[in-house]
Amino acid sequence: MSAKKNLDLGSFAQDVLLGLSSKPKSIPSKYFYDATGDKLFQEIMAMPEYYLTRKEFEILENQHEAILEKILSKKEPFNLVELGAGDGLKTKILLRHLDKVGAEYTYFPIDFSGTVLAELKESLADELPNLEVKTIEDTYRGSLLKREWENGRPSFILFLGGNIGNFPLKEAHDVLDHLRIGTVFGDEVLLGFDLKKNPQTILDAYHDKDGVTREFNLNLLRRMNRELGANFVLENFMHWPSYNPVNGECRSHLVSLKNQNVDILDLNQAFEFEAHEPIFTEISKKYSLSEIKKLAQRSGFELKESFLDQDRYFADVLWERI
Ligand code: AVI
Repeated sequence: MSAKKNLDLGSFAQDVLLGLSSKPKSIPSKYFYDATGDKLFQEIMAMPEYYLTRKEFEILENQHEAILEKILSKKEPFNLVELGAGDGLKTKILLRHLDKVGAEYTYFPIDFSGTVLAELKESLADELPNLEVKTIEDTYRGSLLKREWENGRPSFILFLGGNIGNFPLKEAHDVLDHLRIGTVFGDEVLLGFDLKKNPQTILDAYHDKDGVTREFNLNLLRRMNRELGANFVLENFMHWPSYNPVNGECRSHLVSLKNQNVDILDLNQAFEFEAHEPIFTEISKKYSLSEIKKLAQRSGFELKESFLDQDRYFADVLWERI
């Protein structure tokens, strides 16, 4: 394939070409989130096995006053910036409190998906009509480099849901370096981390009995069939999550169940899969509290407080830019 042709491909096609030509094969997990993937993720968040959303909800419900105390004590207008805003369900706990106490602020939800942002803006207009909302359609790093919210006011940045876990450690360092670039002295950041715990509890969250996470993972193949003219046969691949308690990495794969070739029309290429060959599709890294403290220090932040749920499954940690 010529370099010229490569440049003409969309980023999904380019990433698929790169990922399926690599050894081991991989596809970036950000491509889970098309319209079907967004719906499946909503279903995942409501599953009994997927404790992450429920636990973070509990933290925000029970501890939002303490979480917002410092920014409110400044008694000045501020920016509330959210990386990966999604449906905003958890954030609304904070927004309602800020509304109740009459805080003066602008909410900047950032998401990779324009559809998600449009829906969020509409639901906020219904629920909190006086709230000033400025949506930003961008990646985490892109938005932190551009700092569209820059207006001299202090910023409170939300990075919830354990989204930082979807990066391997080295890349998480890079995202946090961007977080430092995107903030100024005294800014606060609230980060959600899924904590290391009983390995079975973690594995179950990514291997639910109803197979919703399996569908979520297989949706990558469906998406390639639909958008890139691929001919993946979904029954020929198996969802396979695994958890390593040493490094806290929960990794998902799609394992080829037989020797097979898959054509991808838009790439003008066929890919060979050996029986039992995996495609790596997602990392969901879990952290210990001491690892989180070290992460803050190396990234140029001071760990101010850790807010945990009753079972100590999840932590929302408050960092201050130093
Ligand atoms: C978005 N992210 C934090 C989820 C996670 O737990 O890593 C995505 C997910 N993948 C499978 N289930 C949920």
